[in-house]
Amino acid sequence: MSERWTPDSWRSKPVVQMPAYPDARALADVEAQLATFPPLVFAGEARNLKKALARVAKGEAFLLQGGDCAESFAEHGANNIRDFFRVLLQMAVVLTYAGALPVVKVGRIAGQFAKPRSSPVEKVDGVELPSYRGDIINDIAFTPEARLPDPRRQVMAYRQSAATLNLLRAFATGGYANLASVHEWMLGFVTGSQQSRRYQELADRISDALNFMRACGLDLESHPELRATEVYTSHEALLLGYEQAFTRVDSTTGDWYATSGHMLWIGDRTRQLDHAHVEYFRGIRNPIGLKCGPSLKPDELVKLIDILNPDNEPGRLTLITRFGSDKVADGLPALVRAVKREGRVVVWSCDPMHGNTITSTSGYKTRPFDRILSEVKSFFDVHAAEGTYAGGVHLEMTGQDVTECLGGARAITDEHLNDRYHTVCDPRLNAEQSIDMAFLIAELLKQERAGKARPLPAASGM
Ligand code: TRP
Ligand code: MN
Repeated sequence: MSERWTPDSWRSKPVVQMPAYPDARALADVEAQLATFPPLVFAGEARNLKKALARVAKGEAFLLQGGDCAESFAEHGANNIRDFFRVLLQMAVVLTYAGALPVVKVGRIAGQFAKPRSSPVEKVDGVELPSYRGDIINDIAFTPEARLPDPRRQVMAYRQSAATLNLLRAFATGGYANLASVHEWMLGFVTGSQQSRRYQELADRISDALNFMRACGLDLESHPELRATEVYTSHEALLLGYEQAFTRVDSTTGDWYATSGHMLWIGDRTRQLDHAHVEYFRGIRNPIGLKCGPSLKPDELVKLIDILNPDNEPGRLTLITRFGSDKVADGLPALVRAVKREGRVVVWSCDPMHGNTITSTSGYKTRPFDRILSEVKSFFDVHAAEGTYAGGVHLEMTGQDVTECLGGARAITDEHLNDRYHTVCDPRLNAEQSIDMAFLIAELLKQERAGKARPLPAASGM
């Protein structure tokens, strides 16, 4: 692996999950055009996130990463972004308060458009067409024209990402995220629920604390850390031609950075040691994620770490484990032990979504809330037993009142799924389920902090 790296060195490696564009010339034109566009993020921000993640690796902070499975062109409205943002803030506040720890907030947003698929084709009523691969590649409509990969979609995805990021930055620093507004982040449709009462109570306590400090003579308005927050962006860097076009040299250090988002991750389907995705990722200096599923062997993981983080730089690598609630207790310890034995510094984060997808009786792709929670609990248990730190979670969630995952406090049933099943890809936690999840994770975090993680009650008891 001492071979020379360039932003296009991935092109000489085998690659999977990349679309076959019918017009190579049109694709090259778009990629050349993208390479002239301004970056979405700059290197200094990626370094700040890496520093924040280095604190997570040490057990001094917690990573909250979440957002849509896939963003879509059709659902690009201000309300969507705002509602996602406020749920993320609510979850962050719950976790910050419970864990008495800073929470590193990373959205799966402003670039999360390309999807790996288990099959290259989709069959409906005897008709077979190429699979939908995300709005940056083709269209979800089930027609031959729609499913043809179109490179111009990459330009649209870039522009949408820029607009989304612009609004996120405005919300994060323009006053919306002010802790003095902690009550106002509650969404209308969640009020009246048990979650909302719990949240109101916590918000009251925060207000009380702020008022107390004000009464003591502290001028809260002069503290930017109370008025603003930092939200970073992330996505699966699947479409390497697009990523290459946004790979730029940082003028202050001379290093290469991906500038399509702050943090990028490698999917569980594209992490082959000698393939194109790993090759691309080894050369960029951003903080990166690696999805680790049940098929990943401990020695393979160590080899991947050798390639992706040879200098053992804290904050560089987040291992996002996604086993399934029934496999995590058996599969995760071996990975944790291998990493520990080799003395590698990583952030351990739990993706409890992707190993827990089932097809409901009515035919919907769904995820039971109890299984999602059970995987998170097992994740904390394993880290407590191994003496390592359960550093974060990676959730598919939305600020909307959708009905895509079963269960939760409002007990969504199979019959409800049909009401508001809107995702273009995997089922997401809705706003209420997300806040619910944050409170449950807060409990686990509190126990972890207290260093007395006991065997936990079964998920069905919640
Ligand atoms: N700046 C701190 C942080 O981001 C505190 C803070 C301000 C905050 N607004 C917030 C925390 C909103 C959570 C949510 O952690
Ligand atoms: Mn997904």
